[in-house]
Amino acid sequence: MVDNPHNANSLPHHVAVIMDGNGRWARQRGEDRVYGHAHGVESVRAIVREAGELGVEYLTLYAFSTENWSRPQAEINALMELLVDSLAGEVQELVKKGVRLRSTGAIDSLPESCREALKDVEDQTAGCTGITLILALSYSGRWELTEAVRSIVRSGTPAEDIDEQTLRDHMNLPDVPDPELLIRTSGEQRLSNFLLWQLAYSELHFTSVMWPDFREDHFRAAIHEFRGRERRFGRTGEQLTQNADDASNH
Ligand code: IPE
Ligand code: IPE
Ligand code: MG
Repeated sequence: MVDNPHNANSLPHHVAVIMDGNGRWARQRGEDRVYGHAHGVESVRAIVREAGELGVEYLTLYAFSTENWSRPQAEINALMELLVDSLAGEVQELVKKGVRLRSTGAIDSLPESCREALKDVEDQTAGCTGITLILALSYSGRWELTEAVRSIVRSGTPAEDIDEQTLRDHMNLPDVPDPELLIRTSGEQRLSNFLLWQLAYSELHFTSVMWPDFREDHFRAAIHEFRGRERRFGRTGEQLTQNADDASNH
């Protein structure tokens, strides 16, 4: 599957996705932006299924950013409604497929109907042991880091005892490993305040495909590309080749 066996990465445990391009996809069809969001739900369904079948353990989807609160109120309302309807409509399928739902973000700032729908699906899927689907809602990386700092200060931890692990422990989902791979659709090449801490060493995959068109083949292509990437973590390419040779000689 991978061209260079020295560089073969295993399947990522955690894939994060910035689902972008719904509005442009709809506009290209002469439709309202909300039409694009509605079609984006089909892509979510397909990618959750595919990721689960491939054996990915965590899939984090950026569904609504802190900055998205500055969109027209009608679009925000439509997105929140779509979230409630999708959660209610999908819960049985999620349970059947063993998908556990979790969320990250300023959930308290969501409308009550969304909070209830989320809580309901989180509760119903709490015992599921397949892929964990994490919805980032009213989320931003700087918000999460600010909250983590607040939480550390409240805990009274002395400054000299604070290290990277302390920060991790005070993030929203401390038990979830960092994503090895980030995918962003629609041709934009930026993080838009997504998982700033967690993406520190992730591989980035940008595709021009709009989110409502993004399907299983595109997801598999991103994974394939990831598996062929050389992840150096500061070391030299020669060191990695040497390590791979040593490992294959044992
Ligand atoms: C992503 O699509 C969905 C959300 C941000 C909620 P957009 O709505 O950003 O679509 P474009 O980028 O305007 O095409
Ligand atoms: C990022 O997309 C947020 C989500 C996908 C939820 P945006 O479309 O809001 O990002 P910008 O504004 O183009 O950076
Ligand atoms: Mg966008």
